[in-house]
Amino acid sequence: MPSYVVTGASRGIGLEFVRQLSASSSNTVFGLVRNKGGARELVGLSGERTNVRILEADVTSPASLKAAAAEVAKVTGGTLEYLINNAAYVQMERREYDLVKYAEESEEDLLEKDFNENFKVNVVGVIHTTNAFLPLLKAAAGKSLVKVITVSSGVGDTGLTLAAHYSAHVPYSASKAAVNMIVAKYAAQFAQDNIIFLAISPGLVDTATRPPTPEELEKIVAFIEAMKPIYPDWDGKPITPEQSVKHVLNVIEKADRKDTGAFLSHFGNKKWL
Ligand SMILES: NC(=O)c1ccc[n+]([C@@H]2O[C@H](COP(=O)([O-])OP(=O)(O)OC[C@H]3O[C@@H](n4cnc5c(N)ncnc54)[C@H](OP(=O)(O)O)[C@@H]3O)[C@@H](O)[C@H]2O)c1
Repeated sequence: MPSYVVTGASRGIGLEFVRQLSASSSNTVFGLVRNKGGARELVGLSGERTNVRILEADVTSPASLKAAAAEVAKVTGGTLEYLINNAAYVQMERREYDLVKYAEESEEDLLEKDFNENFKVNVVGVIHTTNAFLPLLKAAAGKSLVKVITVSSGVGDTGLTLAAHYSAHVPYSASKAAVNMIVAKYAAQFAQDNIIFLAISPGLVDTATRPPTPEELEKIVAFIEAMKPIYPDWDGKPITPEQSVKHVLNVIEKADRKDTGAFLSHFGNKKWL
């Protein structure tokens, strides 16, 4: 009866994790959301499936995460086999900015704001979440291999950045590169334990809740154009959350102790698209 906690379960990839994992009635799946009222689809799913439970927590609030962990412990008897750190601040504004553009536009204050917000949620938020659930993860590690997955991004890979000359989306990319290091630090700390830590990129996934504005579309097209020369066989189209999560769950299932600390794509390697 493995149990799973998925953060950012209100929509997009997080919601799809809950949907696919809860399809097996032997799994207990806890979806963490900031606001249950804004998670209509997840609430609907929990009405249909008794193995889906919803808890409210903000990854920037350790107190709310500890309260969520206490609720999970009540249901599971104090254990947790899988934690999926999926929640993130996916910055859309100034996505096209490179490092120099912030100065050219005299927006140095925004540079600081963007870095703070991205790192607060995407890096420190992952640490708060992992630490809040560690007692449960450690308790489960006595019986089976426990897995902590952090959803990262290919744009956090320095090799891809250099190959594609992709200088935009700086604070978000830097936050994903930083969280990959956090995953490696946890892996180093728990190398002798039965807990493995992995960063996995989900691919380019269409999680939009509305059609893009012309400006947003321009930025997405610029990203795709930058990536095409690196992946000439790629059709340039985002995949669906369903396709992405199927791939990622396959990588999670196959992951073993030798993989701990790795940063992998949804294909289980370094092919990001
Ligand atoms: N989509 C892609 O192409 C793509 C590519 C590479 C990597 N990723 C990564 O995949 C993951 C999911 O992406 P997505 O496209 O599904 O994102 P999304 O649609 O923007 O959803 C983000 C999720 O994170 C939650 N969240 C944001 N800030 C939070 C906070 N402070 N506390 C708790 N939850 C918070 C949101 O909750 P609310 O509903 O409350 O806002 C939402 O559930 C992210 O880690 C992202 O970086 C996505």
